[in-house]
Amino acid sequence: MIQNKMETVLVSGGAGFIGSHTCEKLIQLGYRVLCIDNLNDYYDPRFKQQNLAKLKKSKSFSFYKADICNRSEMGKLFSKNRIDRIIHLAARAGVRPSIEDPGLYAKVNISGTINLLEEARKNSIKYFVFGSSSSVYGNCREVPFSEDMQLDRPISPYAATKKAGELICYAYHHLYNINISCLRFFTVYGPRGRPDMAPYKFLSRIAEGIPIDMYGDGSTSRDYTYVADIVDGIIASMERLDGYQIFNLGNSNPITLSEFIAVIESVTGKQAVIKREKMQPGDVDTTYSDITKAARMLGYRPKVQFREGISMMYDWLKNHDKR
Ligand SMILES: NC(=O)c1ccc[n+]([C@@H]2O[C@H](COP(=O)([O-])OP(=O)(O)OC[C@H]3O[C@@H](n4cnc5c(N)ncnc54)[C@H](O)[C@@H]3O)[C@@H](O)[C@H]2O)c1
Repeated sequence: MIQNKMETVLVSGGAGFIGSHTCEKLIQLGYRVLCIDNLNDYYDPRFKQQNLAKLKKSKSFSFYKADICNRSEMGKLFSKNRIDRIIHLAARAGVRPSIEDPGLYAKVNISGTINLLEEARKNSIKYFVFGSSSSVYGNCREVPFSEDMQLDRPISPYAATKKAGELICYAYHHLYNINISCLRFFTVYGPRGRPDMAPYKFLSRIAEGIPIDMYGDGSTSRDYTYVADIVDGIIASMERLDGYQIFNLGNSNPITLSEFIAVIESVTGKQAVIKREKMQPGDVDTTYSDITKAARMLGYRPKVQFREGISMMYDWLKNHDKR
């Protein structure tokens, strides 16, 4: 476990949703943070600029606009900076767009991950955290999902790239003795949430009386996890890296789509206008994390209940979202 908080942590994807919260917490804890992000337009890059504006106020924070797929750019960046640990969150996220452009997902999520692992190897960086996803569980019938399940049935290119990322991480651990934790995040929500995800879309649309698309009959469920809880898990895993580990970071409390909409109606005080659509290809029926391993090894204990988290996200949307 590290105690030297003057270490420098490279956070890839640090301008994004989870990344910006992670950078903020690292700075609060006394780490130096080097953030790399290519600020792509998967969603409006002004979201990312706003996330960065806050972080740039700290002297402990530096930002490089760089693409993890660009090997020479990565090489230069690593040779110019002393980096002690890597938290790798940069990725093409989103299940449905990965069906449209699987090649891009493979390039960023697999080759980009290899580029960072290569830099870790060349620069003798022994600590690496990889942002994986609950989507690797596919349509697993056995719940809750636990890390020791054998998984080889991803149902989207995105899920397949995240599983591939975990596998390549294992190979680098085995070959070069890099300590690596792969963290399977379960539907993360909260302030600065991604505008392509249901919590943001539904909150903003229901609040404004705009119809929402409801896929399926409302019985699908997600193990929504508040971003501050995820960040606590990311940092605990970074500080306790030992060998190769996979951890679920979830809330272990799935919420059905119908319940989700009902909570948003109650928080916003508005009734949803619902357009019913059929289930989308690539979408899983349920996600449900078993978090006993993360609790035991990382002291991970999610604190924020769903209604409370949605209410905090709504406050952020009302007060800070001027986009
Ligand atoms: N949000 C969730 O619910 C969730 C769930 C499971 C896994 N994840 C994973 O967590 C990580 C962070 O997700 P997020 O929700 O914060 O998404 P995000 O899109 O907000 O953040 C990802 C960031 O990576 C950057 N990026 C993408 N490609 C890049 C490249 N080639 N070079 C440099 N930067 C690049 C993007 O510009 C973005 O700022 C991702 O790896 C994602 O797959 C997220």
